[in-house]
Formats: sequence, C-alpha cells, structure tokens
Amino acid sequence: MKKIAGKINGWDTAYKKNPQQFTEPEKICALTDVLFPKYGVHRILDLGCGNGRHLVYFGKAGYQVFGTDLSGWGLQAANKWASQENIPSRLALADMQSIPFAEDSFDAIISFKVIQHNLEVDIQATFREIERVLRKDGLLVMDLLRYDPDFERFKKSTMVEPHTFVPRSGLEKGMPHHAFTKAEVFELLHTWNIKFFNTQPDKKHYTIVAQR
Ligand SMILES: C[S@@+](CC[C@H](N)C(=O)[O-])C[C@H]1O[C@@H](n2cnc3c(N)ncnc32)[C@H](O)[C@@H]1O
Repeated sequence: MKKIAGKINGWDTAYKKNPQQFTEPEKICALTDVLFPKYGVHRILDLGCGNGRHLVYFGKAGYQVFGTDLSGWGLQAANKWASQENIPSRLALADMQSIPFAEDSFDAIISFKVIQHNLEVDIQATFREIERVLRKDGLLVMDLLRYDPDFERFKKSTMVEPHTFVPRSGLEKGMPHHAFTKAEVFELLHTWNIKFFNTQPDKKHYTIVAQR
C-alpha cells in the first residue's frame, strides 16, 4: 500500500505494473463532442487524469489539455502516450484538493472515477478548487459513485463515515470511496446549472454535466 502526500493510492502501483490501465474514452464524450464547441471550450483540465485516455481523446480533437493526478506513474504513462500522439502534455502531480492552476484557468473540467476517492470534508475542498479554477459558465463533466445499500462491494469495506467506504482488500485497499445519493449530488451542485444527469447502466455511477 503506497502513500502519496499522506494518502493511500493503489492506482500508483497499478500504473507502474501496467501503464495502459484505461484506453477507451467514457461514453459521455459523445455528448461533450457536441457541448464543448457550443459552450466555447478550448482549455480542458482532466482532474485525476490517470494514464491519460481523455487527454489523448480531447488533445486529438484539438483542445488544449491539462492533467493532474496523485500518481506519478499515472502521469508518466499519460506523458508518454500524449507524446506519442504529438499532444503537448501539461501535467502536474497534485492532490485534487489543491489544484495548481490560477483562478478561471479552464473552460471545462472533466473528472472520471476520481472525486469519489475522498472523505466528505475533502469533497467540499475539491469542489471549492474546481469552482476556483473553472471560469464562469464553464462546464464540469464528471461521474460520481452512486450510493446503493445493496452494492456488494460496500459489504467488503469498512464504513469510515456515512456513505464512505474503505475496501479492506484489492487494488483500492485503504482508499476512501464516497457513494453519493442523488439528493446529495443536487445539494453539492445547488449553485450550478445541471445540464445532464443520469445513472449509468451498471447503476454504480452517475454521469453529470453542470455549468458553473
Ligand atoms: C479509477 S482511476 C481513473 C483515472 C482517469 N480519470 C480515467 O478515467 O482514466 C482513479 C484516479 O484517481 C487518482 N486519484 C486518487 N486520489 C486522488 C487525489 N486525491 N487527487 C488526485 N488524483 C487522485 C488515481 O491516481 C487514479 O489515477
């Protein structure tokens, strides 16, 4: 179990063993292909970019792409893949609670299967950072773990605070997983304009597009 900046991140070891953990873009990209040009998106931050599948996807489409992640091995993989595709990589090793960019830096922030890796207090801090670096009217495209009391995986985890589970084994052992209710998502985004919200077919995640 490796600790980075005081946090356990099993993904770091995973990227070290296999740098191409994720290769295909999320399905929501079919919608962002339409929304991003409509909302004047040029600069995109991938918060928790991992090995860079979305940096490559949006970089190839001509967007300026930036990525942050807590895993050095993930960033190394992302950097290599982006270089192979001739996409300028602007990457930073950073915890999502402290995004190393200035106010209003981005037209869009994307974040897939990342923000859930937080205790509640850190979720609040992450959203404050997102609101700081995303310009007014910018878009946030993300997925969040969906709370389901019957979800088998939670039963093999320890609940450390309401709806926050820490797996006792496996790749994500020791990493917090906050599972959101729909009401919680809408409360969290009450100052945002939610443009798209759905439960993914596997029922494990929500996909959300919101405008600041
Ligand atoms: C399931 S992977 C998803 C990676 C990428 N978003 C994708 O869709 O391919 C979760 C990612 O979150 C990153 N992560 C976990 N905790 C983090 C934190 N506190 N700050 C930034 N990134 C974090 C991990 O290093 C890992 O790359």
